[in-house]
Amino acid sequence: MNLKGLILSGGTGTRLRPITHTSAKQLVPVANKPVLFYGIEALRDAGIKDIGIIVGDTAAEIEEAAGDGSRWGVKITYISQEAPLGLAHAVLTAEQFLGNDSFIMYLGDNLLRDGISDLVESFVKNGPEALILLQEVPNPEAYGVAECRDGAVVQLVEKPKSPKGNLALVGIYMFTPAIHECTRAIKPSARGELEITDAIQCLIDKGKRVEPHIVQGWWKDTGKLEDMLEANRLILDSLEGDIQGAVLDSEIHGRVIIEAGASVSNCTVRGPVIIGKRAVVHDSYIGPYTSIDCEVEIRNSEIEHSIILAQSKVIDLHGRMEGSLVGKNVRILRLDHKPQAYRFMVGDNSWIGIV
Ligand code: TTP
Repeated sequence: MNLKGLILSGGTGTRLRPITHTSAKQLVPVANKPVLFYGIEALRDAGIKDIGIIVGDTAAEIEEAAGDGSRWGVKITYISQEAPLGLAHAVLTAEQFLGNDSFIMYLGDNLLRDGISDLVESFVKNGPEALILLQEVPNPEAYGVAECRDGAVVQLVEKPKSPKGNLALVGIYMFTPAIHECTRAIKPSARGELEITDAIQCLIDKGKRVEPHIVQGWWKDTGKLEDMLEANRLILDSLEGDIQGAVLDSEIHGRVIIEAGASVSNCTVRGPVIIGKRAVVHDSYIGPYTSIDCEVEIRNSEIEHSIILAQSKVIDLHGRMEGSLVGKNVRILRLDHKPQAYRFMVGDNSWIGIV
C-alpha cells in the first residue's frame, strides 16, 4: 500500500499569542527542536516518504525551516490552504496531492511519545476505511469524543456536554481515499469550520469501518502554554546528557545537554536541561525542565521549567523565573538608572507576572 503523510501546519494559533503573532506555533522548539520536526520524524520512522504539509499565513517560515525534506530522507510538498477553515477543509485542499493513496494525517503541533509505526501497521493489516488515535482523558468534554463498540467507532461528538466515555481524539488519523467523498459532502459547523469529526461520522454513517487505536504512551497537543511546557518536560525527560560546550567553575547535575559553542560558567545546572549552540550562561542557576535555545544569554539569574527562544537575554533577574515561555530576541534586564521603575515594551496579548 502506498501511504502518504499529511501534516497540518496552518491554523491561527490564537492560544499561543503573542508568540504566534510573529512565528508559526509549529516551529516553537521543544527541547530546542521545532514541534513540527517531531511529526516529520514520526512519519519518516513509520516508513512514509511522501509528505504534504498544509501551510497558511506562516508558509514562508515553515518552508524555510523544513525545506524539501531531504535532511530526513523524505520528499515534502507544501500545500497552501486559503484560510484555516477546519481540519477537513485541509484534507479537501490536499485532495490533488493525496490522489488515490491512503494517508496519515498528523496535526503539526502534536507530539506522540511512541510514534506511529504500530498505528500504520494495524491500518495496513486490518484495512479499515479510517483509523483514529484515541486516548483516555480526565476531561473528555474539552475534546472530540469517540464512542466505540465491538472494536469499531460508532459515534464521534465534538466537545460533548455529557460525554459517553472518556476516549478523546488525538490529532492523528489514517484514511483511505474514501474520506474525500465525505470532506466534500459535509457542511461547516457552528464555528464555521469543516470538522474532521463530521467527515469521519459521515464515513460511519455510510457503513464504512472506522477503527479506534488507543495510545499507550503520552500524547501532547502543544497549542497552549501549559501544554508546551509539559511537552518540553516530557521530551527533556527522554534525552541523555551530552556536554559539547565549555563548562567552567560550574556544578552540573543530572542529564544536561550543552551544545557546541555554548559556554556555562559559575553556574549550577540541574537537569534535565538543554542549553543550545553559542548560548552564554553565567553566574546563574538553571533548574530542571528548562530549554535554552541557541545564542541566548543568561546572566545572574535563576530559571526553571521554562523555554527561552533564540537570541533572548535574561540579565540580573532577582526572583526565579519559572513556567515561562520567552519568545525570540526578548530582553529582560535590570536597569540601573533613575528613576527606578518597571519599563516594558510588550507585544499584544503578552502577559507578565511580577513578584
Ligand atoms: P488547532 O490547534 O485546532 O487550531 P489553530 O492552529 O487555529 O489554533 P488556535 O485554536 O489556538 O487558534 O489546529 C491544529 C493543527 O492543525 C495546527 O497545527 C494548525 C493546523 N490547522 C490547519 O493546518 N488548518 C486548519 O484549517 C486548522 C483549523 C488547523
